[in-house]
Amino acid sequence: MGSTLDIGTFDRFRTLVYEQTGISLGPHKEALVQARVGKRLRALGLRSYDDYLDLLEADETGGEFTLFVDAICTNVTSFFREAHQFDFIAERVSEWLDEGQRRFRFWSCACSSGEEPYSLAMTLLDVANGYPDVDIRILATDISTRVLDRCLDGCYSEQRVTTVPAEWRSKWMTSAPVGKEAVYRVGSELRDLVLFRRMNLAAPPFPMTGPLDIVMCRNVMIYFDDPVRIALLDEIHRMLRPGGFLIVGHAESLTGINAGFKYLKPATYVRR
Ligand SMILES: C[S@@+](CC[C@H](N)C(=O)[O-])C[C@H]1O[C@@H](n2cnc3c(N)ncnc32)[C@H](O)[C@@H]1O
Repeated sequence: MGSTLDIGTFDRFRTLVYEQTGISLGPHKEALVQARVGKRLRALGLRSYDDYLDLLEADETGGEFTLFVDAICTNVTSFFREAHQFDFIAERVSEWLDEGQRRFRFWSCACSSGEEPYSLAMTLLDVANGYPDVDIRILATDISTRVLDRCLDGCYSEQRVTTVPAEWRSKWMTSAPVGKEAVYRVGSELRDLVLFRRMNLAAPPFPMTGPLDIVMCRNVMIYFDDPVRIALLDEIHRMLRPGGFLIVGHAESLTGINAGFKYLKPATYVRR
C-alpha cells in the first residue's frame, strides 16, 4: 500500500488502455491514474500498481477492466445535455416526417448511463406524435458494462431528472418514493425504442450496416487520438446516409479529420 506510480508502470497502463479502448492517456495524466487506480488498489487490497496491472491483464471476465475504464474516463452525462441539440434533432425529424419518411434509425455512440438515448427517445416520440406507422429505433452503445447496466435499470434520482420537461416526465416515466426522494423509472414506451449494446468505438469495423439518420457521438472523441478518431469517423460515415447528421460534443471538432462531413454549425455535421 502507499505505492507510487513510476514512469515504467505508467507506460504499461498507457499501453494497455490504448490497446483496449483507444483512450490516449497523456503524460500529464499520471497523477490522475495514480489517484483513481489507487482507489482500486485499496479496494482489492493490492500492494502495488504492477500487481494491479497483472490482475487486469489476467482478467478474463472483463469485470475489473470495466471498473478500471470507469475510473480513468468520466461517465458524466445528463438528460437533455446541450438541449439545443435535441431541438435541432426535433426540427430535422419533423421535416423528414412531413416529407413522408417513416423509418428512422439513430445511434448514441457512447451512451454512458442512458440519459442521452432516453432524451433522444422522448424527443422523437414527441415529434412523431400523430404521424401513423412511424418506425423508430435507437442503438445505444458504450464500452462500460457498468453504465450499460444502469441504462437497462432505467432508474434515475429526482435530482437527475430535473432537466426533463415536467410534462414528459409524467408521460414517459413513473415515480416512486424512496426515503425522502423520488426515483423516476423510464417507462416501456421509451425502453422499447432503445437497444443497448456493449461496443468499443476504438475497435472498428462495427457490425451494423446502416443506413442511419442521426449519430450522436458526444464527449467521447476527446479521449482518443487522431488515428482512433479517424477510424471511428470513417465508420460513422459508412453507416450514416447522405444528408444524415453527426452531432458531437460542444468542445469537439472534425476540422481536418474527415472530409466526408460538411460543417453545418458548431458540433453539427452533415454527411456528404
Ligand atoms: C463523458 S461520457 C459521454 C456521455 C454522453 N455521450 C454525453 O455526452 O453526455 C463518455 C463515455 O464514453 C465511454 N467510452 C470511453 N471509451 C470508449 C470506447 N472506446 N468505446 C465506447 N465507449 C467508450 C465511457 O464509458 C463513457 O460512458
